[in-house]
Amino acid sequence: MMLEYSASGEPLIPFPLSYAFEDFSLLVRRLREQEQGKGIPEGFVSSSTYWLLAEDSTILGVSNLRHRLTPKLQIEGGHIGYGIRPSMRGRGYGHHLLRLTLAAAREYEISEVLLTCNRENTASRAVIERAGGRFQDEEFVEAYGGVVRRYWIHNPAGNVAQTGDEP
Ligand SMILES: CC(C)(COP(=O)(O)OP(=O)(O)OC[C@H]1O[C@@H](n2cnc3c(N)ncnc32)[C@H](O)[C@@H]1OP(=O)(O)O)[C@@H](O)C(=O)NCCC(=O)NCCS
Repeated sequence: MMLEYSASGEPLIPFPLSYAFEDFSLLVRRLREQEQGKGIPEGFVSSSTYWLLAEDSTILGVSNLRHRLTPKLQIEGGHIGYGIRPSMRGRGYGHHLLRLTLAAAREYEISEVLLTCNRENTASRAVIERAGGRFQDEEFVEAYGGVVRRYWIHNPAGNVAQTGDEP
């Protein structure tokens, strides 16, 4: 998967994809610690990382759930970052990964979930809107180098309807 990302040259989203992965157990330990708020980079908050796996354990995508918002995440980043590996896009996995990550957010009692995406990111807009994203606003963010769209998803505990069918 990482070779695919490196061949595509695209930005690594969500950010844990940019962590060293050669020693996988070390990577898992680092992610577990971040979930508990240990060793997190300056300005970051605790977060949980999830892997979407096919039946044969092929990694299809990765999501990262921030446990709370910072002023920076309110501008860009929101509660959830997610990505599907380049060769597996357009098959409904993005919808599925977001729904599963919303279910995880309910475990953390995050009942209002902020999602942001680039205005030009048609696929992410479609995924967020299908998951019930209510458009808040959009703004040019210089540090981001583009127009960021912000959405809120109402995600109350016990809302199993959003888990959806597997693609
Ligand atoms: C955004 C992303 C996760 C979507 O994953 P995916 O598995 O391709 O998404 P799905 O197949 O579930 O659905 C994609 C939707 O976008 C639409 N779509 C995809 N590419 C599109 C394009 N170029 N133009 C218009 N619509 C497009 C599809 O038609 C589908 O919408 P629909 O279900 O209403 O038909 C994936 O493109 C990705 O990893 N992008 C890079 C990382 C990223 O941008 N993450 C989001 C950060 S906010």
